[in-house]
Amino acid sequence: MSVLIKNGRVVTATDDYVADVFIEKDKIIAIGRDLKFVAETIIDASGKLVMPGGIDPHVHLEMPFMGTYSSDTYETGTRAALYGGTTTVIDFILQKQGSSLQSALDEWRGRSHGNTLGDYSFHMAVTDFNENTKAEIKTMIEKEGITSFKTFMAYKGALMIDDRQMIGLMEEVKKHGGLINVHATNGDMIDFLVAKHKSEGKLAPLYHYLSQPEITEAEASSRFVDMSSYTGCPGYIVHLTCEGALNAVRDATQRDQKIFVETCIQYLILDASLYENNFEGAKWVMSPPLREKKDQETLWAGINQGLVQVVATDHCPFTWEQKLMGKDDFSKIPNGHPALENRMELLFSEGVMKNKITLNKFVEVSSTNAAKIFGMFPQKGTIAVGSDADIVIIDPNEKHQLSASTHHMNVDYSGYEGWNITGKVKTVLLRGKVAIDNNNCLVEKGYGQFIKRNKVSQII
Ligand code: URP
Ligand code: ZN
Ligand code: ZN
Repeated sequence: MSVLIKNGRVVTATDDYVADVFIEKDKIIAIGRDLKFVAETIIDASGKLVMPGGIDPHVHLEMPFMGTYSSDTYETGTRAALYGGTTTVIDFILQKQGSSLQSALDEWRGRSHGNTLGDYSFHMAVTDFNENTKAEIKTMIEKEGITSFKTFMAYKGALMIDDRQMIGLMEEVKKHGGLINVHATNGDMIDFLVAKHKSEGKLAPLYHYLSQPEITEAEASSRFVDMSSYTGCPGYIVHLTCEGALNAVRDATQRDQKIFVETCIQYLILDASLYENNFEGAKWVMSPPLREKKDQETLWAGINQGLVQVVATDHCPFTWEQKLMGKDDFSKIPNGHPALENRMELLFSEGVMKNKITLNKFVEVSSTNAAKIFGMFPQKGTIAVGSDADIVIIDPNEKHQLSASTHHMNVDYSGYEGWNITGKVKTVLLRGKVAIDNNNCLVEKGYGQFIKRNKVSQII
């Protein structure tokens, strides 16, 4: 299997030049002008951008959550990801409180193994840290290649751990070269506000938003970075949304801490006014909720200042019927929204085309930084000799419209219905195979591989 991509504008996190890219089997073999290799497939990329395949390190596929399952399976979710230019995703395993990490891994493997079209890996969410869990951390990192551990500072009773468990986990993870991911919101404050709103008969989606004010995220983010400073364990704040939380990170950088920040595409381009439309707002019920315009400005600036390293999705889709579980009570609306297929094109259109970020920054935050932070670089996240041939070819000028009627995610609405955007994913290669070509998917389930990741300490 060999592919020659001709005359494309190759953009990585650091470079930008016109060249040919020659691929044999699953790897990039050569990059240069007028390459003379004979290839089975030749792709003319003149006038197009040739960039590393997207990496979305925050997705929830077929995840048991709030009394139901997120509606994209490993098959539909990774197919939709490929259509949108994302070649690798990192999904979350949830430990059941009272059970082991290994049993959770077995359960998640049972659903995912052999069912993905795109490459994938797992973070392990530790929801019950005790002596038994502690003993499993080394095995997860060294044997399973699962080097990042998710913690929840909210969702009490199901997922949340307290600060004592957090410190214990951080010490163990640091010892073995791993990283802690965190959903940093103050669960107790949120639970108080949810109960208060419900007791006052305030049950619409708007009250989901009003139950999670900025301070609930700023407080928890600040507490998390302090615990990370105290233990010396590297931390990664998932789905950071607002100015107050980012300011906590600014303080951490002054202490020279290893704190990484992810925001999600929706927090950059949507705002809380969407909750004003009665139950329609349920489409954007997610945690943390959408914020204000001033927070969008802070996040774009944070990306350019290097304080925010990753733009992910927190893709956690629920169908409209599932969202209706909360039609009389916002606290029963399954939290999450679909964006996996749209992330790269939205970030390109809203970010690069509107001059908010450069092309190099686009590559950095949509692919390269996630590969580095999560121990997959340089196998993934760049276009270089020896790297996996995971490549997205984008036509920067093609205009199109987003809609549930044309997307491939298994959900019957779009959070971006009718959005007109510029820049279209035309061709996607995954490990040297053309996976997407002009709106056709050419790989089948089972093509995706589980990626064992390196220790974080070897990379950063
Ligand atoms: O609303 C969200 N974010 N749903 C998925 C679970 C999580 O908190 O990431
Ligand atoms: Zn979360
Ligand atoms: Zn999430």
